[in-house]
Order: sequence, then structure tokens, then C-alpha cells
Amino acid sequence: MAKEIHEQPEVIGHTLANYLDFSAGTARARDLPFDWKTLRRVVITACGTAYYAGLTAKYWFERFARLPVDIDVASEFRYREMPMEPGGLALFVSQSGETADTLASLRYCRAQGQHIGAVVNVPTSTIARESDVVFPTLAGPEIGVASTKAFTCQLSTLCALAIMAGRARGFLSAEDEAKLVAALGEAPRMMAAALRTEPQIEKLAKNLSKASDVLYLGRGTSYPLALEGALKLKEISYIHAEGYAAGELKHGPIALIDENMPVVVIAPYDRIFEKTVSNMQEVAARGGRIILISDQKGHEEAGITPHEAIILPEMPSTITPLVYSVPVQLLAYHTALHIGTDVDQPRNLAKSVTVE
Ligand code: F6R
Repeated sequence: MAKEIHEQPEVIGHTLANYLDFSAGTARARDLPFDWKTLRRVVITACGTAYYAGLTAKYWFERFARLPVDIDVASEFRYREMPMEPGGLALFVSQSGETADTLASLRYCRAQGQHIGAVVNVPTSTIARESDVVFPTLAGPEIGVASTKAFTCQLSTLCALAIMAGRARGFLSAEDEAKLVAALGEAPRMMAAALRTEPQIEKLAKNLSKASDVLYLGRGTSYPLALEGALKLKEISYIHAEGYAAGELKHGPIALIDENMPVVVIAPYDRIFEKTVSNMQEVAARGGRIILISDQKGHEEAGITPHEAIILPEMPSTITPLVYSVPVQLLAYHTALHIGTDVDQPRNLAKSVTVE
């Protein structure tokens, strides 16, 4: 898992180079069997971590391309009998390309006359073979059961697709596109910088390893990352963790907050940062132990002194889900190491879930 976390700057670079022309400032994919301009919505289906990549993509497709996205976990989608207008686009996100529920959802969409696109890491997989178009993630083989580099490569691919869609549909100008492409081009370097927080994370994970429950909060594209952070922690350390949209705090989970509750707040300084600040203050007022992952500006503007501060460089908001994944993964990894669990082969889990 450590190796795969550390490979990310490199494999993200490969994946982005497959979809982006950095000198022209454009995003591209060849031979698409559908036209972005005529699509009325996109349906994204996946499981687990791949689902959280898809959930992040919903923010990008809706923002860059004004293209509504329906997203569901495959185990629900496959039995939901969703009505679908023929000619729509259904995207399936999967590292292995063999996940039973995702494959069943793909076959349902095929029967409903959808164009089938697969964001997969294993190009010879069943999901890749049964798709009309494959958008490969170039993470290389992922061996650790807990997905890390496949996740950030899925994010890179989906972000590039959303930019393509935005440009094709006329909601992004050539200049907007070039800015977004340049922003993505920064991701490998920023991820390398994020990896340098490891010694600090290793230390603070010692305390976290004593917790019995951990809450993760985020807004916007940091919300799916909060869900992913909680999943990563529970699957390899066996500590109970929940991810929440920060704004949902007062609708229930705030009742859990006391001085024993670590709360990981994922909050880059962005246009909704202020909203997250008020949630953090609610946590701080109840004695919650905040671990704030933000940039320098965010730490200055937070208005509270967190229990622990993880400081990342300032960066364009488009790439924060990719870069902030790194400390989130490292936090789960080092917490599990302190506890002594097998991070590469966590109990009860299989790398690929090929049965229901
Ligand atoms: C979590 C994890 C799982 C997978 C899920 C889907 O770390 O690895 O949640 O993301 O089982 O698997 P794929 O992507 O192979 O379809």
C-alpha cells in the first residue's frame, strides 16, 4: 500500500498525459461513439472507492459541462429499474473491471440502449470488453486491497472527461479549457509535495489509532473524499469511521461530538471554505479533536486552533480531490500500522468482488 501511495505522482502523470495535450492546453479522446453536445444526462455507476471517484465527477460534469449526473452504487442501481432514454451515456468506474454489481448494471444499461463507457484499470477485464469505449486509468497493477492509486487515476480520467464535455458543449471557452488543463498538469508535483507530510502524519496517527470512532467532514468535492477517507480508515485499521457532508453535521452527527471524537476536516481554502469554518467551530465548541487538512490560507482563516494541522500547498481547486487524497490515505495507512493490522490484506476483504 505504501508503494502504491508513493507511486501516485508518476501514475497520475501517465494517466493525465493520455487525455490532455499540455502544450495545446486541450483535453481529448479519440473515436467517441457518442456526442457530448446531444447528451441530456450521464449515469455513473460503481462500488466502494470507485463510486466515490464517480461522485466527485458529478461535481465536475455538472460544473464544467452543465451535464446532469445520476450516480448510484451498483448494488442498488442494478435492481432499481431506472427509466433511461435511449442514446444516453452510462459510465462505469472500476479498478478491476470485474465487480459483479457494476457489470450487472452495465448490462442493464446496455439493454436500455445506452452508450457504455468504462473507466477501468484492467484493460482486458470483462467490463472493458463489454463497453463501447474504454477510458483507461494508467495506474498499473494495484495489488493492495485498499484502493489508492487507482482512485486518484480514476479522478484524473473523469476530470479530463468533464473538461472535454464542457468544451464540446460550449460551457468552457478555449481559455477555460487551457486553464483547467494547466491546473491538472500541476497535480503530480502537488501530490509529491503532499507526500512530504508523511513524517507528520505518522506521528499524529499514533493518537488516532487509540480512537474508537472518527468523523470525516468535507464540502463540495471534499465531501466524496471525506467518504473515501472514512472507508479507507475502517477497512485497514478496523476503526469505525463515518464521512459526512460538513453541512449535514447539525442534522444528526453533531450529537456524537465530545472530547473523545477525532474529526478530520478536509477543507482547502476555496469558495465554500467559510461554510466549513462554521461547521468546524461547532465541533470545536463541543471539544471535538479537529485534524484540519487545508492550505496556509485555510489555516489562517479557520478561526480555530485545530488539534492537528496538516498544511498542503495552495493549488487550483480542481485538483484538490487528487492531492488531498494523499494525506487522507497516509492517515489511514499509518493509523493501521500503529495498530498492527495487515494493511495489504485486511480481514474479510477481497481485492475484486466478483460475486454478489
Ligand atoms: C476500497 C476498495 C473497494 C473497491 C470496490 C470496487 O479501498 O478497494 O471499495 O473500490 O470493491 O472495486 P472495483 O474498482 O474493482 O470495481
